[in-house]
This record gives sequence, C-alpha cells and structure tokens, in this order.
Amino acid sequence: MVTDSPFVVLEDDHRAVLARLELLQEALAGLKYERRGLLAKNLAAIQDVSDFLERTVIPHMRLEEQVGFPYLERHIPKLGGPIHVLIMEHQDFRDKHAELRASLPRGRDNAGEPTPEVLKQLEEVGTYVVLLVRNHIRQEREILFAVAEAALKPSEKAQLLQALQEEKSSRRA
Ligand SMILES: [Fe+2]
Ligand SMILES: [Fe+2]
Repeated sequence: MVTDSPFVVLEDDHRAVLARLELLQEALAGLKYERRGLLAKNLAAIQDVSDFLERTVIPHMRLEEQVGFPYLERHIPKLGGPIHVLIMEHQDFRDKHAELRASLPRGRDNAGEPTPEVLKQLEEVGTYVVLLVRNHIRQEREILFAVAEAALKPSEKAQLLQALQEEKSSRRA
C-alpha cells in the first residue's frame, strides 16, 4: 500500500490486532494441549488479549462504521454490498467477544477451577473470534481498501485520511 493511503489509521489497528490474535491462538492451543499446571498462564494470556481487543477493536469498528464506510459508500456505491456484510461481521464480533469474556473465569464472581465444559466453550468461542477477525481484516484489505485505492481521486483520499485521523484523535483526547 502506498504511503499516502487513506487507510493507514485503520491498518495500524489491523496490524496490532493480527499480532494479538497470534497470542490468543497460542493460548487457546495451550488450554487444549498443555498440562493443567499452565492453565492460569493461558487464561491470563487470553484475558490480556481480550482486554486489548475490547479497547482497540470496538472503537476501530465504530470509526469504520461512522466515518470510513459511509465515505466509501457515498463515493463508490458498488461497495455497498461488501460494506453491509462487514457491518454484520462487526456485530458478530461484538456478540462472540462478549461471550468469550463471559466465559473467562476471572470475570466471574466465584471463579474457582473452571470446569472442562467452560474450557471447551472458551476454546470454541476463542477460535471463532480468531478466524472471524482474521478473515474480516483480509476482506477489508482485499476488497474495500484495494478498490478504494484504485477508485478514489487523490483529493478524496486526502479528505478521507483527514476525516479518519481527526475522528481518531478526537476520541483519544
Ligand atoms: Fe471492520
Ligand atoms: Fe478494520
């Protein structure tokens, strides 16, 4: 992607999220294959990644839904269909990630030792989240961003970049 891409703001998040998904996948494999003595370590790793996703992915999706996607839909109407699917995936992420967090023993009042059923549920929903978000980012890159890079005029790219940057920094302030 060229350096004047309007999507640098979103791609910074994507890269950070993909790196954390690697850690999540490792910890989920650990739950399944490592001995019980490493349970606390793996659960803590899952909690850390989940906290990161909550802080990063939820506002990232809001930025896309409120600024990025409407701009692209206005300027490139044929992206309406893919954008509709991507928005449904955002909701799917919010639902499944909430389920993941609810299954984490630390989030419970009376933690104790998680039962095998709880661990299985955690592993299943965690794996779903990993695959969903990876695929979602790939679709955004390969469909949305690639088409927009080719279709938008330089002045529109600059305008979109500015809108995304302004919205993101206004939220950080
Ligand atoms: Fe997205
Ligand atoms: Fe995204």
